[in-house]
Amino acid sequence: MDGSGKTTQARILARRLEEAGVPVLLTEEPTGSFRNFLLHGDELAPLAELFLFLADRAQHVRTVVLPALSEGKVVVCDRYADSTLAYQGYGRGMDTELIRTLNGIATSGLTPDITVLMDVPPEVAIGRKASGDRFERLDFLRKVREGYLKLARAEPGRFTVVDGTCAEDEVAERIWEVVKRRFNLDRGEDYG
Ligand code: TMP
Repeated sequence: MDGSGKTTQARILARRLEEAGVPVLLTEEPTGSFRNFLLHGDELAPLAELFLFLADRAQHVRTVVLPALSEGKVVVCDRYADSTLAYQGYGRGMDTELIRTLNGIATSGLTPDITVLMDVPPEVAIGRKASGDRFERLDFLRKVREGYLKLARAEPGRFTVVDGTCAEDEVAERIWEVVKRRFNLDRGEDYG
């Protein structure tokens, strides 16, 4: 969710992985090239917006994420395909099955091992952020949140839902526990 503290948590996680000796790449979507236009562009038609997020993802996966994975890095990505399902699908009411198909094409089917949903009530999201981008309306964020929670319920093995209203170090600890377990980091084994 917007204003959930996810960018801070992504940084903390990347730092902890590095400290544990795991090669890591920290990255985000939308990426620099599309970010300004997508967040502040006026009068973007919903379909155009959808295609821009997908085009950005296709480029990001091929030029940044896949090369890092093939170098053996763990990739920490601040937002990915679920954001398009939540915002353009559940938020804007576009066809979620179509978005799933298009996400599959944009990512070549690359799915995260772990997805952390940083959940905060929309009221908190708006209060914390207020940067004025086009995605911060209360009724819209309510739908986005419901969408995210639905996605998390449908894939409990991949998703970890974290209460973003908790203290920063508490949230970081919870995320670290999940990541540590997934990559066997507390047993001193090869993380792969
Ligand atoms: P943030 O990552 O700084 O929170 O800002 C990105 C904004 O873009 C956020 O409001 C969510 C929105 N977004 C979408 O609507 N669809 C997407 O696919 C992605 C990656 C982000």
